[in-house]
Amino acid sequence: MGKHELSSASSGERRTALITGASAGIGEAFARRLAALGYDLIISARRVERLEGLAAELRRDYGIAVSCTPADLSQLEEIQKLEAVIKETGNLELLINNAGFGISGHYVEQSIDRHQRMIDVHITATVRLTHAALRGMIARHRGFVINVSSIAAWVQVGAGPGYCASKVYLNSFSTNLDGAVRDQGVRIQALCPGYTYTEFHNSADYQGTERETLPKWVWMTAEEVVDESLRRLGSEKAIVIPGLKNRIAVFFLNSFISRLIMRIRPLIQGQQKNS
Ligand SMILES: NC(=O)c1ccc[n+]([C@@H]2O[C@H](COP(=O)([O-])OP(=O)(O)OC[C@H]3O[C@@H](n4cnc5c(N)ncnc54)[C@H](OP(=O)(O)O)[C@@H]3O)[C@@H](O)[C@H]2O)c1
Repeated sequence: MGKHELSSASSGERRTALITGASAGIGEAFARRLAALGYDLIISARRVERLEGLAAELRRDYGIAVSCTPADLSQLEEIQKLEAVIKETGNLELLINNAGFGISGHYVEQSIDRHQRMIDVHITATVRLTHAALRGMIARHRGFVINVSSIAAWVQVGAGPGYCASKVYLNSFSTNLDGAVRDQGVRIQALCPGYTYTEFHNSADYQGTERETLPKWVWMTAEEVVDESLRRLGSEKAIVIPGLKNRIAVFFLNSFISRLIMRIRPLIQGQQKNS
């Protein structure tokens, strides 16, 4: 096995991946792919029946060990419960901090507790679970952490401010940490999907209309996102943007065109108000 490659099932050793937000969407797709690769799994989310159903299916289809640790990652005690599980898992090779949600509507109109919960699920849980995993991974000189971020990290206007800012945090955290641990046999990836077919846009927290209004070509499937993440694990850059269309979108979000739109937007809005 290369220093920064996923170990293969044929190596004979058991290895474990822990996935948060595995009851749906991208997390569930990670669970299925890693089960097929022969990983034992620890899966976490709030919806216990979903976790148990998935665990039973993956045990039956792939003969792997799957344990479920239900946790609400907006609650510190529940994050700490997962931290303890991580520290007890002597062969943890992969930690995937994936759990997350969006908040629709105007920032001010949503309760501050909801915004706080997002910070806790996206940032506090990721930072704490990663910290819990790293000591063991560094000692074994082997491991990967995937932090599921978003191309929303490059959006500067018109989207949820708390959501976008939390993903900026994850990108900076992952890039900096990757630089600090890559010589110790551990790599960190910030996975930045664009629009992906999951339950995200129809969840109780978000209730967006994107599924109905955006053209099909902007979307990727969760499986496509996961495949690109795993293929590019350990590659030179910590930030992985799956799909050419999403890389082009980030190029434009970074470009002078985006800055120009930001400059003229208040003028256009002013004209609309006056007309
Ligand atoms: N879909 C997209 O277009 C898109 C684009 C860019 C980035 N992302 C990111 O991808 C990640 C996964 O989202 P998804 O698209 O797969 O959405 P999803 O289908 O709605 O899945 C979200 C997962 O997060 C879990 N979760 C939500 N709140 C939680 C909490 N308080 N505690 C523990 N688990 C919680 C959910 O499980 P329970 O409800 O059972 O707890 C579920 O398993 C998120 O970080 C999201 O920001 C998504």
